[in-house]
Amino acid sequence: MKNSATACRITGVGANLPERVLTNLDLERMVDTSDEWIVTRTGIRERRIVNEGTNTYELALPAAREALETAGVKAEELDLIICATATQDRYFPSTACMIGHGLGSGDAPAFDISAACSGFIYGSSIINQYFKGGATKHALLVASEIYSRIVNWKDRSTCVLFGDASAAVVFSAADGPEGLIDTCIRSNGEYGSFLTGGAITRAGDPLSGALPSMGENYFIEMKGNQTFKVAVKSMCDVAQRILKENGMSVADVDLVIPHQANIRIISAVGKSLGLPEEKVYSNIHRYGNTSAATIPLALYEAQKEGRAKKGDVVLMVAFGGGLTWGASLMRL
Ligand SMILES: CC(C)(COP(=O)(O)OP(=O)(O)OC[C@H]1O[C@@H](n2cnc3c(N)ncnc32)[C@H](O)[C@@H]1OP(=O)(O)O)[C@@H](O)C(=O)NCCC(=O)NCCS
Repeated sequence: MKNSATACRITGVGANLPERVLTNLDLERMVDTSDEWIVTRTGIRERRIVNEGTNTYELALPAAREALETAGVKAEELDLIICATATQDRYFPSTACMIGHGLGSGDAPAFDISAACSGFIYGSSIINQYFKGGATKHALLVASEIYSRIVNWKDRSTCVLFGDASAAVVFSAADGPEGLIDTCIRSNGEYGSFLTGGAITRAGDPLSGALPSMGENYFIEMKGNQTFKVAVKSMCDVAQRILKENGMSVADVDLVIPHQANIRIISAVGKSLGLPEEKVYSNIHRYGNTSAATIPLALYEAQKEGRAKKGDVVLMVAFGGGLTWGASLMRL
């Protein structure tokens, strides 16, 4: 069993959702699908979509500001900024650098991480290590995703699944029982082709004049059935593992916040872990899969609804392209 003292705890959470709603009925007019198919196969009823031209860092800023305000932490007090995103605005500067600039966080180190839908869990694991190093007092972890930018809106098998959102969490130094108890992250590139997305980019050849044309051929490709099965197994395995390593069982957990990819995956994970429905949080019907943002957005809403309270033990568990997966265990 690991040491129970924590190095950091969550002091503020914020979220920013685009106002525009894309419903299943809207999608019926775009591709050969139906509200009934989408709801029964995925649980999704609607998702949010940014206005054209919105950047990932712009979507992130209000979420980050809200998290800082709730935490009572000024931007210039931040020692670290991490942005989890699969839809960064540019290769460089990083989205995190642009967020830091927008917040006025001075010269705090800032970088993006690429772990697709597991990005928030990967980020919390990195942040945990920074705090254990001792020099970090406040860190900001933002998840900001604009999947509407990379989705192929003619592909019914994937375009119905995703949405845009941003959510942010401030972690502050702590040494008591409240805080991040442990994190566990894993990957297996062998299954990389199960879920892949982005822009097809080619190396340019300035000598032959064959220069890449940027910004075209965006795509998401997914082997839905295989992904489904690996998602359930990986999330259950990592949830059981993190609990066991910390001398806990599902009975000690007040709320599980799983990545919101499909309500059937969420239910299968809950059932396999032996959890009652009320202990498994879901808001996928409103937002779809917002990749790295699903977990902090769910935490934000669970707190507002009184389902995640101070002192509660919360288990977050995610799965994403890579393949990546992981869990974060904390006492709020
Ligand atoms: C994508 C997913 C919803 C598909 O559900 P499914 O029950 O596995 O459905 P299938 O892929 O077997 O497809 C069943 C049929 O529905 C069709 N279909 C696919 N998308 C459709 C849509 N939007 N509307 C209507 N029909 C659709 C398929 O073409 C297929 O038709 P066919 O039987 O004539 O070939 C499901 O596999 C899933 O959620 N997988 C995991 C995805 C995920 O979590 N990704 C993110 C991880 S971070």
